[in-house]
Amino acid sequence: MSDNGKNIADRIVCQISRLNTVQALAALVDAFPGQVTFSSSFSFEDQLITHDILSNHLPVNIFTLDTGRLFAETYAVWNTTNERYKTLVKAYYPNQQQLEDFVLAKGPNSFYASVENRKSCCHIRKVEPLQRALSGNKVWVTGLRAEHSAGRNEMKQVEWDETNQVIKYHPLLHWTTDQVKDYIKQYNIPYNPLHDQGFISIGCAPCTRAVKPGEDFRAGRWWWEDADKKECGLHVNHPSETNQDK
Ligand code: ADX
Ligand code: SF4
Repeated sequence: MSDNGKNIADRIVCQISRLNTVQALAALVDAFPGQVTFSSSFSFEDQLITHDILSNHLPVNIFTLDTGRLFAETYAVWNTTNERYKTLVKAYYPNQQQLEDFVLAKGPNSFYASVENRKSCCHIRKVEPLQRALSGNKVWVTGLRAEHSAGRNEMKQVEWDETNQVIKYHPLLHWTTDQVKDYIKQYNIPYNPLHDQGFISIGCAPCTRAVKPGEDFRAGRWWWEDADKKECGLHVNHPSETNQDK
């Protein structure tokens, strides 16, 4: 299955490498009808992709992982997006029992106490709901950009995700921040106002802060941890790198 998946991913790279985002998404939904899904955190990048999908009526499902700890601004832009595009973005929630047990055992903010707690929290609030969101899909579209972290520089625009058994497509992988901002402005796309206050990528409120001029783009995420631990487990492409192992 995985070899097959890798081969399919390689073939798709050839087919869509010269296409723009809309054309590439259209080719993917033709190849995998009803099985292309896009995860949105309502960041700049994700809003751009949402705009491309909805204003071109592309049959791509859009979902978000509502961790329960998002910023008020994120819920506001989610609502504005629903209104602007006359859509209803589907949310996936953490498993109620797992979350209750975890918070009872560790308290509400245990992520500051250890990397282990932080990874457990991310697993319960993001990774497990993601697995449900991806189930039944063949292609997972994300708003990842290479500029966001060193590790992401080595990524390919289309890759095989062995962990989730899907093809991942990152249409904006090689876009610059200015290109993203210009596109948002040009089409008057609703965006999270935290981006105007120095926030680069926007995750959960207790775990994201603004980035100061000159700081690394990833500095605003889990800033109390070592740089090499700063992934939440959403974008781990091989089971040997699982959330719990890192
Ligand atoms: S993370 O791994 O650090 O949390 P990041 O915030 O950089 O991810 O976002 C990269 C991409 O992951 C987004 O463009 C989006 O596709 C997906 N993503 C991140 N957080 C969420 C979320 N809460 N809901 C849905 N998708 C998300
Ligand atoms: Fe929990 Fe923070 Fe991970 Fe959100 S980012 S799921 S609050 S540890």
